Amino acid sequence: MRQFLPILVLLTSLVSCRRQETMESLTERVFRRAHAQLTAMDSQLDGRTTPRSFENGRFISAGIRWWCSGFYPGSLWYVYEYTGDEAVRALAEKHTLRLDSIQWVTNDHDVGFQLNCSYGNALRLTGDDRYRPVLRQGALSLATRFSPVTGTLRSWDFVRKGRDWQFPVIIDNMMNLELLLSVAEAYGDDSLREIACTHANTTMRNHFREDCTCFHLVDYSPEDGAVRSRQTVQGYADASAWARGQAWALYGYTMMFRKTGYQSYFTQASRVANMLADRLPADGIPYWDFDAPEIPDAPRDASAAAIMASAFIELSQYVLEDADRDRYLATAERQLRTLASPDYLAEAGTNGCFLLKHSVGSMPDGQEVDVPLTYADYYFLEALLRYRTIVK
Ligand code: GLY
Repeated sequence: MRQFLPILVLLTSLVSCRRQETMESLTERVFRRAHAQLTAMDSQLDGRTTPRSFENGRFISAGIRWWCSGFYPGSLWYVYEYTGDEAVRALAEKHTLRLDSIQWVTNDHDVGFQLNCSYGNALRLTGDDRYRPVLRQGALSLATRFSPVTGTLRSWDFVRKGRDWQFPVIIDNMMNLELLLSVAEAYGDDSLREIACTHANTTMRNHFREDCTCFHLVDYSPEDGAVRSRQTVQGYADASAWARGQAWALYGYTMMFRKTGYQSYFTQASRVANMLADRLPADGIPYWDFDAPEIPDAPRDASAAAIMASAFIELSQYVLEDADRDRYLATAERQLRTLASPDYLAEAGTNGCFLLKHSVGSMPDGQEVDVPLTYADYYFLEALLRYRTIVK
């Protein structure tokens, strides 16, 4: 009997390989679900609201000033990109144009997220010039938040109770630089490009630790640019690695490399990627904070996994070593397979019409813990589209 054991193992693994769903069919399945969920979601919104979450059986919406207002139109654009369904395009246009006034916002940094995911995708997929001026004005509004003294854009104007921030900058802010760089490219505006690069360079110097994890928030002195403190707001502790913050860092520096070609951004993205690939759990979905004390019983954060997957796939295209490319793609594929499994992917007609379950907004605030979140869906769809273009 013993001599047949290797043959038995080989046969079993061949059968299980044959049974594994192809990424092509997984992508088709997810986009079919996304089409159903996200088109149905429209009926839960009025002309002034955007999806936020689904908690205790209740759909939760927010006003368009909420930092996430670009993700629903952005997700619709991705569904349109995959399906070519003109009805989805009309819906995507409707929800994009509702964000028109965001271009004038100067008291918050999230203009980049809001406009790039909505208007940015609209322009990319339609080439319609009417989307351009809004993106341009949005970038100019965002740029007003730059201080040459700190070398950064300011994230928030508000100060939380118990904190004494003077010029807070969160790692998430890296994501807003894509809007600046896209507009800089489109209009030949070197000053916007300079602001984006200066912010990214300052963040690289001050936000990261030796092990390449990053702090959530760095507070600067607006008088001399000195670092006043390094803290967390949404993570477990000031010194911990909040999962979504690490995801923003990976995505942010990968995007900076794509937009500028500067090697330092590629190096930074690779360091973060290697740290994450080493530390992620076997199924690829991080706990809400890599240092959460309740691990392995801590909630996972599907949104962080989706953002990371999208970034890993992009970064895999820039690396020179096959081993790195394979490692990043394998990590992303693992994440996407887990997210597309019944553990994370919602059944049609459930989950408030969101696609993914199990994200965490802000654990320390007890807000949005183990719920669907609109940005988890957006980056999940983006990652699947990216995977499809590069892995034939
Ligand atoms: N930008 C806010 C967050 O990641 O929760």
